[in-house]
Amino acid sequence: MNKYLERFNLAGRTAVVTGASEGIGRELALGLAGAGADAIVCSRREQKLMEVKAEIETLGRRGEVFVLDVGKISSIEELGNFILDRFGKVDILVNNAAYTVTKPAWLVTENEWDLMLDTSLKGTFFCCQIIGAIMRNQNYGKIINLSSTFSRSIIHGRSVYGALKAGVSHLTEALAMEWAPHGIRVNALAPTAVRTPSREELLKGEVLKMVLSRIPLGRLATPDDLIGATIYLASAASDFVTGQTLFVDGGWVAAR
Ligand SMILES: NC(=O)c1ccc[n+]([C@@H]2O[C@H](COP(=O)([O-])OP(=O)(O)OC[C@H]3O[C@@H](n4cnc5c(N)ncnc54)[C@H](OP(=O)(O)O)[C@@H]3O)[C@@H](O)[C@H]2O)c1
Repeated sequence: MNKYLERFNLAGRTAVVTGASEGIGRELALGLAGAGADAIVCSRREQKLMEVKAEIETLGRRGEVFVLDVGKISSIEELGNFILDRFGKVDILVNNAAYTVTKPAWLVTENEWDLMLDTSLKGTFFCCQIIGAIMRNQNYGKIINLSSTFSRSIIHGRSVYGALKAGVSHLTEALAMEWAPHGIRVNALAPTAVRTPSREELLKGEVLKMVLSRIPLGRLATPDDLIGATIYLASAASDFVTGQTLFVDGGWVAAR
């Protein structure tokens, strides 16, 4: 491999991906493994994670499963211990786990608010804090937080989601500033609509038409559209990049 391509090589790196049992998280874990990283895949459904681990191993990398509830700080602390026990280090953290409700703001309940914020914002923050502490001791690390086009644009039915994703992008900037002295790069990846199991019901009929009309490149994203940007943000190729939200959105935000 020449020295230019070598900068994207993740061989010898250890990655942790939350929400890796399906959808985008699963694909990103496989993409990182394909670029050379060993990966710890985390979420609540162990059986699904075992399938992802098996796929990682067919790529010739080491895969580990950790059953994680990002809404519980004790569970994230156990993940930190697991990382140290199995690998002794962590180079890459992808905060992907989320829970989303789509409904008019008038109808959002307190329970839905709590579940969305606990999974997607509180979970992201404490994964950054607890796993970032391991990176601080190494003086190097790459954190990638999943944001969204809705962090910068409005869509009906996604008021809470948009607010929390704006929070994820803001948190990304704030942590990038606080942790730059420790060599920890913190960036966000912001996709547009991606057809994943949790979006299957939503992306139909009039909603699908409206979404497509807002994407200049004229199609939905697929999970593998996100792999190149993820490898870039995880690798030495982006070592001078921190505090950014990278939109992989077919032009949605530029056109808003
Ligand atoms: N799909 C899109 O159109 C789109 C667009 C922009 C941004 N995004 C963002 O991209 C990320 C992935 O989206 P997605 O559509 O693939 O899936 P998603 O439905 O947002 O998230 C599903 C993943 O999160 C895990 N998860 C949910 N609650 C959890 C918890 N308490 N603890 C640990 N894991 C938990 C699920 O696994 P278990 O059930 O096994 O726990 C599953 O693997 C999210 O951050 C999402 O907001 C998605």
